[in-house]
Amino acid sequence: MRAQGLVAAATVLVVAVVGAVSAKDPFSEECKIHEYPPSGPTYKGNVPKYIINLDLPPSERWVKLVTDKKAELKIMIFSLKGMLKALIHNKKYMAALENKLAWLGTTLPYPFDEEIKGIASAADIPLGDIVVFNIFYEIFTVCTSIVAEDTTGKLYHARNLDFGLFLGWDIKNSSWTVTKELKPLMVSVDFQRNNKTVFKSSNLAGYVGMISGVKPGAFSLTLNERFSVDGGYIGLFEWIVGQRDGWWMSFLTRNVLENCTSYEDAKDRLVNSKLLAPAYFILGGMKSGEGCIITRSRSATLDIWPLDTKKGIWYLVETNYDRWKDPFVLDNRRDPAMKCLNQTMQENISLPTIYNVLSTKPVLNKLTVSTTLLEVSDGHIETYLRDCPDPCSPW
Ligand SMILES: *[C@@H]1O[C@H](CO)[C@@H](O)[C@H](O)[C@H]1NC(C)=O
Ligand SMILES: *[C@@H]1O[C@H](CO)[C@@H](O)[C@H](O)[C@H]1NC(C)=O
Ligand SMILES: *[C@@H]1O[C@H](CO)[C@@H](O)[C@H](O)[C@H]1NC(C)=O
Ligand SMILES: *[C@@H]1O[C@H](CO)[C@@H](O)[C@H](O)[C@H]1NC(C)=O
Ligand SMILES: *[C@@H]1O[C@H](CO)[C@@H](O)[C@H](O)[C@H]1NC(C)=O
Repeated sequence: MRAQGLVAAATVLVVAVVGAVSAKDPFSEECKIHEYPPSGPTYKGNVPKYIINLDLPPSERWVKLVTDKKAELKIMIFSLKGMLKALIHNKKYMAALENKLAWLGTTLPYPFDEEIKGIASAADIPLGDIVVFNIFYEIFTVCTSIVAEDTTGKLYHARNLDFGLFLGWDIKNSSWTVTKELKPLMVSVDFQRNNKTVFKSSNLAGYVGMISGVKPGAFSLTLNERFSVDGGYIGLFEWIVGQRDGWWMSFLTRNVLENCTSYEDAKDRLVNSKLLAPAYFILGGMKSGEGCIITRSRSATLDIWPLDTKKGIWYLVETNYDRWKDPFVLDNRRDPAMKCLNQTMQENISLPTIYNVLSTKPVLNKLTVSTTLLEVSDGHIETYLRDCPDPCSPW
């Protein structure tokens, strides 16, 4: 089994946390049907909106947002570093690592280098710590993304952001420490040039890559992590020792949202760019059939899986597994999501019904920070913070 280090560690963790392991998910439930508009115990609130002005120099773009979120950002980075310290133990190594990371931050491609420097200075947080945050976020994200087409050919796109796996389990609150601390950092961002929207995204304050976004009238895009032997760690290592020819996944996504002008253009760049880590790109467009999941290794595209309503494929679901393989037995969010989409039927698909699917456990789980709904034709984005009260799957 290509179960990888992380997932193998998950097995150990599940035993520790849940106490019992069974192949059938004990946390699954009937498909939700009345969750929208969001309310009740799984809804934790809306997120604030910000405008990022791309006409400003990169170092000034995030100042307002980061100044507002400074306190929350410090809390979260303090936790992340605590966990890193626990891993590394040795104070001298830790200090050396931080220096190294600060230096590496300055070697990131433009405009990310400048933006990260601007964020560190506005938040009054050491540069190396902001770099750590931006790296961690690339590595510990598990997610569910859906792209779907209704009977009129209109496209919808949505995702749950599940973040914080293995980053400290809080026994008292039965929650992941980092997941909890990320919620106040979630924002909705409108990137503008000449006072006009270029794209919209939901994102975490302090983070410069994009993992979900919509370009009005053109395409919508989400990024899911793909665990693989030839994984992020190797790419990360190569990057640290100086091999810089691959893209950070979320930097590529940001570049595509900012600079590609159509579905085809976006697809072409996502298929052909070299990456630092494997990934799934979930892309939606404007016309019937414009939707696909691109499965990437670092250097190649392994699969492009398109919507095809003539063959009855009116939706695509991606979690964190290749479509030609079974999901890991302890982490099957794909089948529950498909079951609920099947029950919803194409006639009834809409952002509210997709929200229902993303509200059904274990698609909704203890790692879920937020749910984002995207609609490309009018460039619409909605983001809601989530909670998963017990009983609820740890991921
Ligand atoms: C979690 O537990 C701590 C300590 O018991 C408590 O102070 C806090 O309010 C709890 N809830 C959340 C959401 O952190
Ligand atoms: C954007 O709008 C602001 C105020 O509405 C105005 O001062 C500024 O000149 C505009 N910028 C551009 C590039 O049009
Ligand atoms: C988008 O393209 C412009 C112009 O080439 C470039 O300055 C900018 O850095 C690009 N954006 C990203 C995020 O790479
Ligand atoms: C959902 O429907 C598709 C197409 O009919 C079918 O292949 C798939 O097995 C169904 N999945 C679930 C989990 O019900
Ligand atoms: C689907 O839509 C029909 C009519 O629009 C409605 O009667 C039905 O309850 C809906 N089903 C679900 C599962 O939402």
